[in-house]
Amino acid sequence: MLNVALPKGRLADKTLKLLAEVGYNIDEITKENRKLVFEDSAGGICYFLVKPSDVTVYVENGVADIGVVGKDILLEYAPDVYELLDLKMGKCRVAVAAKNGYREDVERPLRVATKFPGIARKYYASVNRDIEIIKLNGSIELAPILGMSDVIVDIVETGTTLKENDMSVFTEITDISARLIACKASYQFKREEIETLVAKLREVVK
Ligand code: PRP
Repeated sequence: MLNVALPKGRLADKTLKLLAEVGYNIDEITKENRKLVFEDSAGGICYFLVKPSDVTVYVENGVADIGVVGKDILLEYAPDVYELLDLKMGKCRVAVAAKNGYREDVERPLRVATKFPGIARKYYASVNRDIEIIKLNGSIELAPILGMSDVIVDIVETGTTLKENDMSVFTEITDISARLIACKASYQFKREEIETLVAKLREVVK
């Protein structure tokens, strides 16, 4: 039995569609309910629905053998897991954004609101810019609107959130997409099962 940590939220539907495409039964999961564990005994697979930023925790602990997670989470937390496959979905960018018309004052540290302090620090270190991090967990766009930060470092997918809040991308930091990851120990013990799934997914991932 392969234990799989799946992210709830915006990657969930796309991941389930991919699993269905390679022949797994996802009927139970797609039903409207609050269940968190689903077993497909015929397919030899058990799914856990977890918060996206927790997928790596389950995989690092070996509770899940594999998982699906955004590259943003891998860059931010550098978990001790194998990255097996780019699933080429959930494509977006991590970018610096600011209110339209914003002019940077280079004489003082830049106040950066973000849920990715690691990515932000690394980026600004690479361009030699002093910053102050304001760590938030969501609705990052509010920070510059309320004057709490100068810019944000955040995910931009369609750009709608920025547009509707009178903001624009200032600089792009990196492209990201969903990745299939594996627990290092599981990869030794369940290599065949994992590689079979990877081979099937590779066929449908374009
Ligand atoms: C993310 C991100 C942006 C938004 C970007 O937030 O932090 O706010 O999506 O998407 P868009 O470019 O398609 O508008 P999320 O929806 O994950 O919620 P959060 O504010 O709670 O982080």
